[in-house]
Amino acid sequence: MPDHASPTPIIRLESVSKSFGSVEALRGIDLTFDPGRTTVVLGPSGCGKSVMLKHIIGLLRPDHGRVWFEDQRVDRLREHELVDIRRRVGFLFQQGALFDSMTVGQNIAFPLREHTNVSRPERFKRVDRMLELVGVPGTADRMPAELSGGQRKRIALARSIVLEPEVVLYDEPTTGLDPIRSDVIAQLILRLQEALSLTSIVVTHDIPTAFKIADTMVMMNQGRILMVGEPEDFRSTDDEVIRRFLDGRATPEELGEVTGSFQGLES
Ligand SMILES: Nc1ncnc2c1ncn2[C@@H]1O[C@H](COP(=O)(O)OP(=O)(O)OP(=O)(O)O)[C@@H](O)[C@H]1O
Ligand SMILES: [Mg+2]
Repeated sequence: MPDHASPTPIIRLESVSKSFGSVEALRGIDLTFDPGRTTVVLGPSGCGKSVMLKHIIGLLRPDHGRVWFEDQRVDRLREHELVDIRRRVGFLFQQGALFDSMTVGQNIAFPLREHTNVSRPERFKRVDRMLELVGVPGTADRMPAELSGGQRKRIALARSIVLEPEVVLYDEPTTGLDPIRSDVIAQLILRLQEALSLTSIVVTHDIPTAFKIADTMVMMNQGRILMVGEPEDFRSTDDEVIRRFLDGRATPEELGEVTGSFQGLES
């Protein structure tokens, strides 16, 4: 629990349920996110983490329940009304998804062109500032294909913060990176949070990163919230599912699943 008077949450999910056909991706999620804090969301593949994030910016709408951004019902907003929310909330997508046919600079400038009237010289300036902030200065004229995976993540990160959002949603920011690069990204998330007083929500499978950056941790499982607490609560929990997840130990049934089907292993 945060100490004394808790701040008013900036984002709130109330009883949010979402199904795709027979798949119940979210089964009545209640979550709040406080301003200026970093919340790390953990949970096995397919438990609903990305689906949860997409509800926050109205990319998905709940079947039941409510999604609040401050005092606005995101789940009720029309597409054109969501523009304002999406300007205030940066989203680092799981797939990174840079435009391959654009330079790094054009990629980062893209939200500025879409959402603002910022002049061309000012766009160049902001792109350079972002590249410096994420630690890859001077790469504006390079093509994404010429960069390493770690550099591409940083460029994608620069693009998701170029509008100077209040909230950033990171969907697996370190997946596919070596431990050193992961640490760089973790430090970057911390630095951005301090420099821009961001509210950060970070979905990750990367346990060392999670403990480095979290003020609050959330564990999801099968579309439900299993636990919310401070990192210390997670370190000391004796909940078997959470322990196994943090220690990276599969149950015998999970091992059986893997040997049983080699198809559908893509995440
Ligand atoms: N657009 C969609 N259409 C149909 N099913 C979907 C869609 N998006 C997600 N799902 C399903 O909802 C469930 C939750 O998916 P989600 O992407 O949130 O998982 P996740 O926790 O982010 O997993 P991972 O760690 O692998 O990214 C999965 O069973 C997934 O197949
Ligand atoms: Mg996901």
